[in-house]
Amino acid sequence: MEATTFVLFGATGDLAKRKIYPALYNLFVDQKLPQSFSVIGLGRRELSDQTFQANVEQSLHMFSRREANDPDVMKKFLRAFRYSVLDVGRKEDYQKLLKLIEQQEEEQRMEPNRMFYLSVGPEFFEPITANIHESGLGSAYGWKRLVIEKPFGHDLQSARDLNHNLGKVFTEDEIFRVDHYLGKPMVQKLEVLQQSNPVLQALWNNRYIANVQITANEIVGVEERAGYYDHVGAVRDMFQNHMLQLLMMLTIHLPNNSTSENIRYKKKLVMESLEKLQKEDVSSYVVRGQYEAGTIQGQSVVGYTSEPNIAAASSNDTFIAAKLQIDDYFWRGVPFYIRTGKRMKDKSTRLVIEFKEPLKQPGANDDNKTPNLLVIEIGPHEGISLQLNTRDPLNKGKFKPMHIDFHENRDHVPEAYENLIRDALHGDPTFFAHWDEVELSWQWVQPILDAYKENLVPLHHYAAGSYGPAESDELLEQDGYHWWFDD
Ligand code: BG6
Repeated sequence: MEATTFVLFGATGDLAKRKIYPALYNLFVDQKLPQSFSVIGLGRRELSDQTFQANVEQSLHMFSRREANDPDVMKKFLRAFRYSVLDVGRKEDYQKLLKLIEQQEEEQRMEPNRMFYLSVGPEFFEPITANIHESGLGSAYGWKRLVIEKPFGHDLQSARDLNHNLGKVFTEDEIFRVDHYLGKPMVQKLEVLQQSNPVLQALWNNRYIANVQITANEIVGVEERAGYYDHVGAVRDMFQNHMLQLLMMLTIHLPNNSTSENIRYKKKLVMESLEKLQKEDVSSYVVRGQYEAGTIQGQSVVGYTSEPNIAAASSNDTFIAAKLQIDDYFWRGVPFYIRTGKRMKDKSTRLVIEFKEPLKQPGANDDNKTPNLLVIEIGPHEGISLQLNTRDPLNKGKFKPMHIDFHENRDHVPEAYENLIRDALHGDPTFFAHWDEVELSWQWVQPILDAYKENLVPLHHYAAGSYGPAESDELLEQDGYHWWFDD
């Protein structure tokens, strides 16, 4: 792999500690980092290299999936880390940074390949990239890449503006937009599951599939992110990005030996085929919810509007359920039900594919017959299970469901950020959000944002520790279905 300087803006932040350092460490242990690799951490606080390295080490003890207790390995790993103070708006800091990078590159005889990772609030994306450009940080003869985290914009227009401004400094090929759901190992396997298994490939269409349910339930509430969350809600925080990415990854039909271009092209086609909502019709397809006080796993929790720093009159959404339809050859007529919420009964991200039931045989003893289900567990544990029907010899030969389960050994599963950072270092864009997908997602979501703003969609309350408002169940019931595994 090519030599790389990893320039990390927001090096003292939460994401860096919880996700980025542990990912780098695990990649290092697996020998998946370039031979010549250096990290330059940037933050507003003054820190010596030693203190920075000690902080990184501490975060590994707290958050790495592997124990980080071999002092030799640790020493070698931390050797690559330097720190420089940087105030986003101060031009001199970028000059200082440039000197430091050049000095490192020279000392280590590294090619000037630079990856700028912006682990900072979105309001800093534009000033930082403009300064990268002005300072000459991005104009060495090696490659440059920009890695940014969602949110990419607040709505369609702001996303377009942001993209336009980033585009003045980085080309689309140089921008790696992290949607960490695309880094989850099971999400990365979806394409292979469908493509390399004729059993699934043959059934992956509206002839056999009755409906698809995509759920991302969380136990946590707003946590300490009131300032951010109260302005975005579940629709922007999870739905516009993670949930629509899951939908795309599940529904693309790929040729054999698919490439990154194929995958992204097919994802774009899915988004273009999504039946559009009109603002006035949103309330028939979308359920907006907000949690109230309740009990989760034996613990009482307060309602959303009693959370610290949330206004008592906030009508922000902490839950969304929606029914979507893809108007293409494969999926026409199959409803996709998507939901995500905070303070739900359990933590689970899963896809449920419900198959159509074969015609009932007249006079057959099939009272207990259930549809075939393929359940793909994405997190927190990875697994796949298939529900089939069999007969129960102990119960008059009646039907009973039979489950075939597979669960991945957790210790062997890399974290999403490991996959994504490795891919970005390789310059592989497959599992990053392309601008076309981001724009089309905002386009699809925009009528929902407008309808929320104009109060055209009622805000339903649900008790913390439940599966969301009853109206979310009704969304399926009106089509003769129900959410699976709500019990
Ligand atoms: C983030 C959201 O993108 O994803 C959070 O901002 C959410 O609000 C998180 O909690 C969920 O991620 P995961 O991997 O725990 O499902």
